[in-house]
Amino acid sequence: MFKILVVWCVLYKVLQAAPSVPENEGFLQNPRYYTYDELTNVFRKLETENPDIAKLISVGRSVKNRELWAIHINSNVHNRTLLTPMFKYVANMHGDESIGRQLMIYLAEYLILNYGKIDRVTHLVDTVDIFLMPSMNPDGYENSQEGKCDSKLRYVGRENENGVDLNRDFPDQFETHRAGTIIAGRQPETIAIMTWIISRPFVLSGNLHGGAVVASYPYDDSNLNLECCRESKSPDNEIFKELALLYAQNHELMKTGQACKNDNFPQGITNGAYWYEVKGGMQDFNYVKSNCFEVTFELSCCKFPNASTLQQEWSINKGPLLSFMEAVHWGVKGLVLNTRGDPVLDADIVVKGINHNITTSNRGEYWRLLLPGTYEIFVVAFGYYPSEPAVVEVVRDKTTIQNFTLKLLPQQGNNFMEKGGTIDYKWLWNI
Ligand SMILES: *[C@@H]1O[C@H](CO)[C@@H](O)[C@H](O)[C@H]1NC(C)=O
Ligand SMILES: *[C@@H]1O[C@H](CO)[C@@H](O)[C@H](O)[C@H]1NC(C)=O
Ligand SMILES: *[C@@H]1O[C@H](CO)[C@@H](O)[C@H](O)[C@H]1NC(C)=O
Ligand SMILES: *[C@@H]1O[C@H](CO)[C@@H](O)[C@H](O)[C@H]1NC(C)=O
Ligand SMILES: [Zn+2]
Repeated sequence: MFKILVVWCVLYKVLQAAPSVPENEGFLQNPRYYTYDELTNVFRKLETENPDIAKLISVGRSVKNRELWAIHINSNVHNRTLLTPMFKYVANMHGDESIGRQLMIYLAEYLILNYGKIDRVTHLVDTVDIFLMPSMNPDGYENSQEGKCDSKLRYVGRENENGVDLNRDFPDQFETHRAGTIIAGRQPETIAIMTWIISRPFVLSGNLHGGAVVASYPYDDSNLNLECCRESKSPDNEIFKELALLYAQNHELMKTGQACKNDNFPQGITNGAYWYEVKGGMQDFNYVKSNCFEVTFELSCCKFPNASTLQQEWSINKGPLLSFMEAVHWGVKGLVLNTRGDPVLDADIVVKGINHNITTSNRGEYWRLLLPGTYEIFVVAFGYYPSEPAVVEVVRDKTTIQNFTLKLLPQQGNNFMEKGGTIDYKWLWNI
C-alpha cells in the first residue's frame, strides 16, 4: 500500500511538472538585435499571419520619419470589448538601452504564437488590450552600437536625432511656466506619445530602460530641486511600490538589489526621485496627466550588451513581464451610466483617502487600480448629482465590479463643452 502511495505521489509530481503543451519560443534561436527594417517586417508578418489577434499600429513618426510602431494584441483586436483594460509597454526611449526593445519583439511573438495553447497566455490575450512598443526612439537606436555598455560621447544614440533626451521632454508637474501650448517646442516622438497617452484610456504601463537593474516608481520629480536622496511620493505610493515589487521580486537578479556595481536598491525597487530627480520624464506624465499608472524597469547593467545575452534576458524577464501585465486587473472597474442608460464620460472616480482621481472613458468605463482592502468610492460628473458613496471590497487577484448610475441635475443647459472654459482634451477619446 505504502509503495503504491509513493509511486502515485511521484507520478503525480511528474504529471504536474510537465507542461501539457510545450511553449513555442522558436524566436529565441540565433538571438540578435533587429534593425528598424527587420522589426517592421517581423511585426507586419505577425499581423498578416494572425489578423484576429494582432494589429500593427503607428503612434507617430521620429525625426527621421521612422514609424513609432506598436503591436496591438487582443482576442478582440478590432473592437475592444467593453471594460477590457488597456495595457502598454514602451521600450527604448533611450535609443542605446536596447534589451527592452528586443524583449518586446519576443513578447509579441510569445503571446501570439502561444495564444490558445498556453493557458496563461490565452487568458492575458483574452482579458487585456495589450500594446507593445519596442522603440520610442528608433533614430537613436540606429545611432547606437552593440557591445557598448555606456552611452557614446555627447549621448549620441541615447538622445533622439535632434540631440534631445526624450525622458526629459515631457510636461512636468513642477515646471512653473512655459510659453505656448502643452506641446509647443517638444520633439515629434514626445508629442506622438503624449497624444497616445492622453487620448486612450490606458490603465497600466511599463517603461523599459537599461544601465541599472531596478524597478523605479513615481514620482521621478519633486519641487525640492535636489539631485537625489529624498522620496517624492504620489498619492498612490503604496500601490506603486507593490507594482514595482511585483516585477523586482519575480526577477532573479533585480530582487537582490545589487545586480550592478554601485547598485544598492533594497528589494530591487526605488522611488524615482529618491534615486535621482528627473524633470520632464514620461513616467510622471502618465500618472499626472492621464489615468495610466507607469513604472520604470531598468533591465541590464550594460546598456547595449552583446546579443548573446538575449536568451538569458528573455528567460529572466519573461515571468516579471507577464506578472506585471496581469496586475492591470487589480482593483475595481465598472460602468458609469446616467438614468437613461447612456454612458457618462469624463466623470471623476473619487476614492476617499487617495487624492488622485480616475476619469471615465467615452463608453463610461473606469478602471481604478487598488490594493486589497475596503474603500469608499463615489462619482462626480459635470451636470449630474454626485453618486452615493459605495463601499467596495478589493481582494487579491480578482477585479471587483462596481457600476454607478448618475442622476441629471435639473435645468441642464447645452453648455457641456464649456467645462472650465476650455475643451478638455480627454474628449478625444474615441474608442
Ligand atoms: C463593437 O462591438 C460592440 C458590442 O460589443 C458593438 O455594439 C459595436 O457595433 C461594434 N463596433 C464595430 C465597429 O464593430
Ligand atoms: C558578441 O559576442 C560574440 C562572441 O560571443 C562575438 O563573436 C561578437 O563579435 C560580439 N559582438 C559584438 C557586437 O561585440
Ligand atoms: C477629484 O474629483 C473631485 C470631484 O470632482 C474634486 O473635488 C477633487 O478636487 C478631485 N481631486 C483631484 C486630486 O483632482
Ligand atoms: C455592471 O455593468 C455591466 C455592464 O452593463 C454588467 O455586465 C454587470 O453585470 C454590472 N455589474 C454589477 C455588479 O452590477
Ligand atoms: Zn534610460
